[in-house]
Amino acid sequence: MARKLAVIGAGLMGSGIAQVAAQAGWDVVLRDVTDEALRRGTDGIRTSYDKFVAKGKLAAEDAEAAFGRLTATTDLDAAADADVVVEAVFEKLEIKHEIFRALDKLVKDGAILASNTSAIPITKIAAVTERPERVVGAHFFSPVPMMQLCELVRGYKTSDETLATAREFAESTGKTCIVVNRDVAGFVTTRLISALVVEAAKLYESGVATAEDIDLACKLGFGHAMGPLATADLTGVDILLHATGNIYTESQDEKFAPPELMRRMVDAGDIGRKSGQGFYKH
Ligand SMILES: NC(=O)c1ccc[n+]([C@@H]2O[C@H](COP(=O)([O-])OP(=O)(O)OC[C@H]3O[C@@H](n4cnc5c(N)ncnc54)[C@H](O)[C@@H]3O)[C@@H](O)[C@H]2O)c1
Repeated sequence: MARKLAVIGAGLMGSGIAQVAAQAGWDVVLRDVTDEALRRGTDGIRTSYDKFVAKGKLAAEDAEAAFGRLTATTDLDAAADADVVVEAVFEKLEIKHEIFRALDKLVKDGAILASNTSAIPITKIAAVTERPERVVGAHFFSPVPMMQLCELVRGYKTSDETLATAREFAESTGKTCIVVNRDVAGFVTTRLISALVVEAAKLYESGVATAEDIDLACKLGFGHAMGPLATADLTGVDILLHATGNIYTESQDEKFAPPELMRRMVDAGDIGRKSGQGFYKH
């Protein structure tokens, strides 16, 4: 029996999640607030399928079939009969609250509601619903069709059954899951990268080593694909400062206290690749 997925938000992440799910055989309804956003999302999916076909990684008829399983709409009611809903709208608690309140009233009792949030506690999102045990974090990584990981996050009340359904969904799309058993700020992935970037920035700030050598240490010594300072430039020093600051505020753990250097870089506009200058010149 075909399973139905609703994805709320057709941006970078939502369209990627819709793409891999449709390819895995899910009937997918993709919802955004404007036709323009939906067109951008579905055009992106089309282009990505075409690239996989051109590279010989996806058969043309499978791409057609997957695209055919996808419906784009501005009508939230289209999510009513979904088995799994994944929310991937802007990272703003008020917007997520509004959506989870509406979905909770709309979807069937057995459906699970997942959020792709990178940092908002799942418990905070679940609290506005009447089904907090059926709310879970399903944190995919960008670009979704390429990145293998899905970080599943248990909110304070998430049930084992909900976690199992979320895992089944993510694995059906070819992802490998890790489970975050406690709803801590930054989950596992953002905590790890934050700790590494903060220490790398402190070593650089205090003149212990150059940015190049710090990154080389991680690449050649630990086999990382990219060093922490190059990662900060790619992600955005501003984004990492914000993420690290949030973890520090929640945990009061000094190791997440963002170094002054990162604040001054953001004040000066040196936020990485986006601005042409970060720890490196781009
Ligand atoms: N960008 C990343 O690398 C990344 C990685 C992991 C997780 N995330 C998380 O995924 C979520 C989405 O991020 P993104 O990068 O795809 O953002 P994005 O800006 O590309 O897309 C967000 C989309 O949500 C839509 N939207 C806003 N309000 C809506 C509503 N009420 N109903 C339906 N759609 C609505 C917007 O129109 C937009 O198309 C965020 O919570 C983000 O933290 C992002």
